[in-house]
Amino acid sequence: MSSKNKSEEIRNKNDLFEIEKEKIYLDKKDKENLSYAEKRHKENTATFNTIMTIIKLPYILGYKLPKTIISKITFKSTREAQQKEIARLKRLNDSKERARNSNVLKELEFIEAFKNIGFKDKLNKYPVFNGLEIIGDRETISFKSNLSLTEWISKKEQLETVLNTNIVSVRQGENKQIVDLDTTKNKLPKLLNWDDDYLINDGIFPIGKDIFGNIVKFEFIYIANILVGGAPRGGKTKLFQLLSYQILKTGGKLIIAEFKGVDYQKFENKCQVINDHQELLKALKDLRKEMEKRKKLFRNVGAENIDDYNQKTGSNLKRYYLLIDELGEAMEIVNPDLDKKTKDNIEKDIAELCKSGARLYSAFGIHFVFGTQRPDVRVIEGQTRDQFIGRICFKAVKNTSNIVLESDIASNLNSDDKGRAYIKIGADYKEVQVFLFNDDMLKNLKNKKLTKNDLKIVGAEKENTFDEKEIETIDIDID
Ligand SMILES: Nc1ncnc2c1ncn2[C@@H]1O[C@H](COP(=O)(O)OP(=O)(O)O)[C@@H](O)[C@H]1O
Ligand SMILES: [Mg+2]
Repeated sequence: MSSKNKSEEIRNKNDLFEIEKEKIYLDKKDKENLSYAEKRHKENTATFNTIMTIIKLPYILGYKLPKTIISKITFKSTREAQQKEIARLKRLNDSKERARNSNVLKELEFIEAFKNIGFKDKLNKYPVFNGLEIIGDRETISFKSNLSLTEWISKKEQLETVLNTNIVSVRQGENKQIVDLDTTKNKLPKLLNWDDDYLINDGIFPIGKDIFGNIVKFEFIYIANILVGGAPRGGKTKLFQLLSYQILKTGGKLIIAEFKGVDYQKFENKCQVINDHQELLKALKDLRKEMEKRKKLFRNVGAENIDDYNQKTGSNLKRYYLLIDELGEAMEIVNPDLDKKTKDNIEKDIAELCKSGARLYSAFGIHFVFGTQRPDVRVIEGQTRDQFIGRICFKAVKNTSNIVLESDIASNLNSDDKGRAYIKIGADYKEVQVFLFNDDMLKNLKNKKLTKNDLKIVGAEKENTFDEKEIETIDIDID
């Protein structure tokens, strides 16, 4: 290549460079364009923000601002502190409750209580806490020991004091060593008035309430006969009157025997009221006849008992009840006009008929309710007594309570608590407040139809000879 050619070439490159240079560097105009665009963008953003602020203004003024102000003036921080304190106290309470219910603490508490009253077995061991179950108002505390159920029951009063609760029932637990105590802080009322709203049906008689306010009833279909024990003034006669009223009100047939001759005067025109031993003997014989009559009826239709018979035949055969208030007086005649032999015979016959009646009549719907303050063998012998499944005892001496309830539990009752009694249910006992019956309610009952018996002349012995008249039967039904 020549040198001229070479310089030519260089010059051309410089030109080319000049030309290309225009394309690489921004010129003044480009710079102006950029800054203009940037400025526009800033302006647009500002406008957008302003619009957004204007749009948000109601939210800020209507909600955010007032919320901040209100929070401030309503002690938000104080409230938060309080909430924290509540949560802390709750945790504290829970843990204390857990501690209280923990077996360790309970065990110590109970051993302390048993020590106080020296309640221990022959090896000087105190009962051991075995568990606690709480259902509503009832706390069932379970203990393991070598003490018998009877020992627990006889200490009931003292246990109630040291455990600071009411023991409602003492039951054998899952084995012979375990005893369950049903306890409650509830109290029995001192007085419960009878009200006709409690009435149920013939044969099912509400007599009072237990400590939980449940109605306690006597159901003759299960208990056959009732033995009522208790020292004078406890409430036996009032209970007899309550039962008498319910029997009559529900259409049952009632014979009352009472030898004082004063307690049932108001019943005299409502049912048969007996004040005389020969009359009682006659009534017992009449009941035997009624039983024989019913036996035939039942056999005809293959019925096993009165309810079965009524169901099978669609009839409404009524139950009979013989109530003897103060059985001791029924079993021992004090009458200077009768010679010893006659007295002995009547006494023997009454005892015999009571014995067979208690055993045989109840299936036929003929029931006995006997009351006594001393239910020993001279008054009612063991075999006869066994036929009285219903047992209730008001405040009584130990001996009476033991015979009626097979426990001295009723001797612990307070003699000021009138109408307060224990009933026996299987091997268990229930304290009840018996409804107080008001004589005025007798006006709600119809008067009885007069029978020959009512026209009897006092002293006309012939009228009283046995086997003459029969009591009303199913043929001559109630009013
Ligand atoms: N269920 C009762 N509720 C309240 N008081 C009663 C109740 N039963 C009896 N009383 C009171 O006790 C007294 C004696 O009762 P009562 O039935 O005559 O005893 P008892 O026949 O056992 O000797 C009654 O006059 C009455 O004031
Ligand atoms: Mg009485």
